[in-house]
Amino acid sequence: MSQPLKDLLRTSDLSASDIELLLGTASKFADKPLWAKKTLARKTVAIYMTKSSTRTRLASETAVAHLGGSPIFLRGDDLQIGRGETISDTAKIISGFCSALIVRTFAQSDVDELGKYATIPVINALTDDDHPTQLLADWLTIRENFGKDIKKRKFVYIGDGNNVANAWLIMGATMGAHIVVATPAGKWAPKSSVVDQANKIAKKSGGKIEVITDPKVAAQDASVIYTDVWMSMGDSEADRAEKTSALSSFAVTNDLMRLTTKDSIFMHCLPAHRGEEVAADVIDGPKSVVWRQAFHRRTTIQALLYHLTRGDLKGNK
Ligand code: CP
Ligand code: NVA
Repeated sequence: MSQPLKDLLRTSDLSASDIELLLGTASKFADKPLWAKKTLARKTVAIYMTKSSTRTRLASETAVAHLGGSPIFLRGDDLQIGRGETISDTAKIISGFCSALIVRTFAQSDVDELGKYATIPVINALTDDDHPTQLLADWLTIRENFGKDIKKRKFVYIGDGNNVANAWLIMGATMGAHIVVATPAGKWAPKSSVVDQANKIAKKSGGKIEVITDPKVAAQDASVIYTDVWMSMGDSEADRAEKTSALSSFAVTNDLMRLTTKDSIFMHCLPAHRGEEVAADVIDGPKSVVWRQAFHRRTTIQALLYHLTRGDLKGNK
């Protein structure tokens, strides 16, 4: 018997059947937030963040509370890690007090190391490279709008080739979707290693991956247009002018949305910068599903905690 999935360190850790299970459970938590209210009774979950957060922190703390547990929020330099304690020692200590660790930080390798040394589930709540919990919320929102039959649909991300774009590629590939990512060429395109990995996954799942540089070609007949901020947490301020200029033609406007299907939706993980990556009349307009997407941050993190602590996700290994 193979071991159950212990952590969610990367979007690619999840199999399609894990995702189906999580989305089903998250839907239940959307209707009845307290149906599993004893799951974490008298237990604690550490939430450690070295980057800012509005949604992920609120969603995580609320999810833990709805499962009957107590969240312990630890900000960046609250921990002795900032004064040189090792990640492995920290992981062992947190494992002695808590039932899970939710972590947001810069380097993916730090999250990987926490996962290696912690004996409790570790959940990646955003790194420079990935944002797996976001994609669960996104996919549930997509499911609510389009159901399971996505064969003829095109799911498009337009903008910076960042952590969210990476996760969009991998999640879409796992779900067998037709994924298009449009970014400027070069520095702001997704890493070729991620695109290669997405292509490999899509080959097995029946999905299709396209990484292009023309936002109009991408938007044509799209069911979803997704975008994210142009400057991510941790991006160098020295790049701002060059990056903003390279991305200016990738802004999601109503002109771009007019190229999409009649039933298309606009998605954004938030926070948004109206007038930069998205026009106000798009994000605040009738096609926008961003508030439902944000709502599902809680339902999906709750599902993740529920299943990871029970050990019933299979993973990809
Ligand atoms: N989408 C998202 O992760 O939001 P926060 O940065 O506010 O957590
Ligand atoms: N790409 C953004 C996502 C924020 C939720 C960042 O990393 O800052």
